[in-house]
Amino acid sequence: MRNLNAELYSNELFEEWSKKNYLLIAEDKLLSKYLIDNTKNVIDVGTGGGRLAFYVENMGFNNISAFDIVPGMIKQAKKVAKEKESNIEFKVADAVNLSKYGNNTFDYSLYLQQVLNFIPEEEEFNASLNESYRITKKGGIVLFSFLDYNTRIFNRPLNMVLNLLRIIRKEKVLTQRLPWIKINNKFNWKIFNKNQALSYWVKKDKILSDLQNIGYTVLEVKNANQFINNNTTKRKGMLYIVCQK
Ligand SMILES: C[S@@+](CC[C@H](N)C(=O)[O-])C[C@H]1O[C@@H](n2cnc3c(N)ncnc32)[C@H](O)[C@@H]1O
Repeated sequence: MRNLNAELYSNELFEEWSKKNYLLIAEDKLLSKYLIDNTKNVIDVGTGGGRLAFYVENMGFNNISAFDIVPGMIKQAKKVAKEKESNIEFKVADAVNLSKYGNNTFDYSLYLQQVLNFIPEEEEFNASLNESYRITKKGGIVLFSFLDYNTRIFNRPLNMVLNLLRIIRKEKVLTQRLPWIKINNKFNWKIFNKNQALSYWVKKDKILSDLQNIGYTVLEVKNANQFINNNTTKRKGMLYIVCQK
């Protein structure tokens, strides 16, 4: 089956994500709060051009692995690694099946920038959560971020139209799988077409219970805006979940 999100990252989104090099406020706060022991090892999942992996190397970590499903991203990351004389081990892999990495391998696992939400199938998404648990050491920390269904105002009206179209077209697609509204900051005019890249927008309670059922202890849950204003209960933006195995 085609992975249309991986195709987007290989083509339209390649330039942006292979070259990005600044940190979001939430990422900055989470990395400095949880990645406290730079003698430990780290994996960066869906690394793109290695933005987070290189940042973590600059924090003093020297045992870092990173992978991406798009070979071009890894080629670009390896090129930069050579220029920087970096020791990061970059590989091509799919978060759904991490047979390249052993059980209980990593102290810190980074699943940021909503990488798992681009996996095309529900079963594969669940498999990727299990893989995150398997490759992380007992006591290890996993930083996840997810697309949060309830924080994007367009999701409900978009779903009303989409659900109708899906019924007419006899397509069986989960309600929380939504097309990209913008690609490279331009409106996606093919938004209602069939066979398009869809992202999986999670619901907070469900993802928390899935993570706990796998065996994780949840240490912290916040939306992006709550890293800027600690006191707000209103949630906006990406959902960050910190887990411990
Ligand atoms: C939003 S970009 C983030 C890139 C990088 N982590 C960063 O923060 O700069 C998402 C990345 O996840 C990768 N990706 C998507 N699905 C993946 C999968 N199943 N396994 C591994 N990487 C995946 C994409 O190719 C893309 O590079």
